[in-house]
Amino acid sequence: MNIRDIMRASPVMPVIVIDRVEDAVPLAQALVAGGIRVLEVTLRTAAALESIQAIAAAVPDAIVGVGTVTKPEQFAQVKAAGARFAVTPGLTDELAEAAKAAGIPLLPGVMTPSEVIAALAHGFDAMKLFPAEQAGGLGMLKALGGPFANVLFCPTGGVTLESAPRFLALPNVACVGGSWLVPKDKVAAGEWHVVTQLAREAAALKA
Ligand code: 3PG
Repeated sequence: MNIRDIMRASPVMPVIVIDRVEDAVPLAQALVAGGIRVLEVTLRTAAALESIQAIAAAVPDAIVGVGTVTKPEQFAQVKAAGARFAVTPGLTDELAEAAKAAGIPLLPGVMTPSEVIAALAHGFDAMKLFPAEQAGGLGMLKALGGPFANVLFCPTGGVTLESAPRFLALPNVACVGGSWLVPKDKVAAGEWHVVTQLAREAAALKA
């Protein structure tokens, strides 16, 4: 799957932080049960890499990817762990080259027109607008749609179940990212049915 296919596979890409490896598989199963298959597991915890491995091995219906990639050497590591795509909060030349070298589809983060131009120069025409609300939200995406009509965005950062439909209604938005589907306290308590219900609501949003 290329990155546009992955973005279109589900209206919401959950931004996931996993503290305990043992939560990875039940959490992924809970999201998939609710209809959310594309999962961004962030490299923010010690458990992240092993969690990606566990999900890739045990949850075949999940399309597991990795988020918060900030170092070039991480692309090869996460690909070996089973990640099928990668998301970065921003982009450098080194990150762009390393993602290409690793052969992993990349959704690079951008926040300004200059960053969009730089990402396009590296051959990326699908991008994460991050942090989306702080960058200007709906108005920013509408404005970027003028000069960059061919760029598809996944706005992430400050997006909620309530605001998501307004983002998804824009022609240059394929999906939104958000952490609201995976509340920390529900994960800690193993309340997977709550995660499934949140996933169900998110999956029902129109992309
Ligand atoms: C993040 O990097 O944590 C994502 O942007 C999620 O942001 P959110 O918590 O505002 O959904």
